[in-house]
Amino acid sequence: MAQGDIDLGVQVGSIAMKNPIATASGCGGYGEELAEFYDLGRLGAIVTKSITLQPREGHPPPRLVEVRAGMLNAIGLANVGLDRFLAEKLPALARFDVPVIVNVAGSTPEEYVAVCAALDAADGVAGIELNVSCPNVKRGGMEFGVAPEPLAALVEAVREKVTRATLIVKLSPNVTDIAVTAKAAADAGADALSLVNTLRGMAIDPWTGRPALTNTVGGLSGPAIKPVAIYMIRRVWEEVAGPRHLPVIGLGGVQFAEDVIEFLRAGATAVSVGTANFVDPQTCVTLVDGVREGLARLGVSSARDLVGRMQRGGET
Ligand SMILES: Cc1cc2nc3c(=O)[nH]c(=O)nc-3n(C[C@H](O)[C@H](O)[C@H](O)COP(=O)(O)O)c2cc1C
Repeated sequence: MAQGDIDLGVQVGSIAMKNPIATASGCGGYGEELAEFYDLGRLGAIVTKSITLQPREGHPPPRLVEVRAGMLNAIGLANVGLDRFLAEKLPALARFDVPVIVNVAGSTPEEYVAVCAALDAADGVAGIELNVSCPNVKRGGMEFGVAPEPLAALVEAVREKVTRATLIVKLSPNVTDIAVTAKAAADAGADALSLVNTLRGMAIDPWTGRPALTNTVGGLSGPAIKPVAIYMIRRVWEEVAGPRHLPVIGLGGVQFAEDVIEFLRAGATAVSVGTANFVDPQTCVTLVDGVREGLARLGVSSARDLVGRMQRGGET
């Protein structure tokens, strides 16, 4: 099949992506960092770093360390806050022909609702991705995303205010069964799911005994977590997303075109790319071309046709 005959377009809620490649939250700033390397309009979507109601400094460095087959980070949600994001960062993205998905974080449901309502009313926000891996200060620090009840309550509260943008809930992998939280988010009105966020981890210098991160505990990302992400996407696809036709944005260790094809087969409609941008900032655009080549090689004319398509034991 000729590469020119390949249709890379995919749909996530009301977001028409020209290809299934998006940036991952926190790994490309507000877009401007990657715009130094290529036209952001070549991407399927841009996902911003987490935005909170108030500006945040984040944790002091070191807040990012390389580990074998990945990275540990404890950035602590450093960001400019909602007002500056709306005044400066969002307008700067308008010159690119790319849907903007704004990732949102907070420590109370009220904070999430306030940020999401303001973003939903703003021009140029195609999607809102809820980062539910934040400690819920009202519930003694437990993450919103690890138990179905607080997650459902949060998504329902946000859903009431988000009437225009596609609402994506980004699931935490730090759970016993991700199908449980996926179902809670879907029942509460999510238009799409994204998974996975980082896996909790830590590293200690063997000779000084000092933790590698100032925050001690961080989130593991990169190639090390890819098989976990694939498993969890498949589980969510089978239990929740497939039967309900709910789009999934897959992420966790995507680096090569083969990875994208693997994620689509697991059940993702699109992928987000995080840590790989630190290896090569051109990764996302290289992936767009690579996926086109891969689909041509498979004789599949549309990226959509590959979603969920894997063989089972004995099947041909
Ligand atoms: C440096 C860094 C910062 C991140 N910041 C955020 C963030 O602000 N919000 C969020 O939802 N996820 C954040 N993430 C998680 C990524 O979006 C992604 O879920 C995770 O890293 C797995 O993808 P990857 O292996 O491609 O990096 C961050 C990850 C890294 C490495």
